[in-house]
Amino acid sequence: MNPNPVPLLNPVFVALDTTHPDYARQLAERVRGSVGGLKLGLEFFNAHGPDGIRPFTEMGLPVFLDLKYHDIPNTVASACRAAASLGVSILNVHAQGGAAMMRAAVDAVKSVSPSTRLIAVTMLTSLSDEDLPSVGLMPPVGDQVLRLASLTQQCGLDGVVCSAHEIVTLRKELGDDFMLVVPGIRPDGSAVGDQRRVMGPAEARDAGASILVIGRPITGAADPAQAARDIAQSLGITAA
Ligand code: C5P
Repeated sequence: MNPNPVPLLNPVFVALDTTHPDYARQLAERVRGSVGGLKLGLEFFNAHGPDGIRPFTEMGLPVFLDLKYHDIPNTVASACRAAASLGVSILNVHAQGGAAMMRAAVDAVKSVSPSTRLIAVTMLTSLSDEDLPSVGLMPPVGDQVLRLASLTQQCGLDGVVCSAHEIVTLRKELGDDFMLVVPGIRPDGSAVGDQRRVMGPAEARDAGASILVIGRPITGAADPAQAARDIAQSLGITAA
């Protein structure tokens, strides 16, 4: 199955963070004209498996399957082959799995679905400088992010997930063709919630983000369709 192409026009991927398939489908239908893609993660996948993903890849929007694989190269490659065959447009692994693992993942994805983009998580944004020594890493987090993002690029992956405040440095160091996928996006007036370092959609796009992952500001709004339209409009995009 050929995945839907990753969009250039509308960079917003709505995070459908729920275990309820009907609710996720309704949300996706309501916002589909105003977003560029859908993101489904561990929460949804562990409840519904591959069969739960297919209805979303059939909706005509690109799907980012955010499962963050981290295991030995052979296992990650097998998981990537299986996931890529679902017709998803973006998959991800942990860069801390190392170069051999990332190269095996690239080969696996390309063998099944050459147009599926493979990206890596560098450091989880839930980790701060104080957490690093206890897992054997030297702070600051920013240095680890840049080192792992460079390794990701050398291994032939398409990009990384990063926080908004890392966009400028990574764009400068890694060039224009590397995808920067950015969560923690908050339009003016929306609740920050548990995100720490947030940025507005237009600000993040202008700083160099390729994809903006936005969950609760859309899914938690009284009118998700209107919230998605407002975000699209703030980016200068006319909703379908
Ligand atoms: O609701 P909110 O806009 O905060 O959702 C952000 C989405 O991005 C969630 O699905 C979250 O799991 C994901 N994410 C994140 N931070 C990361 C990686 C992924 O918030 N570093």
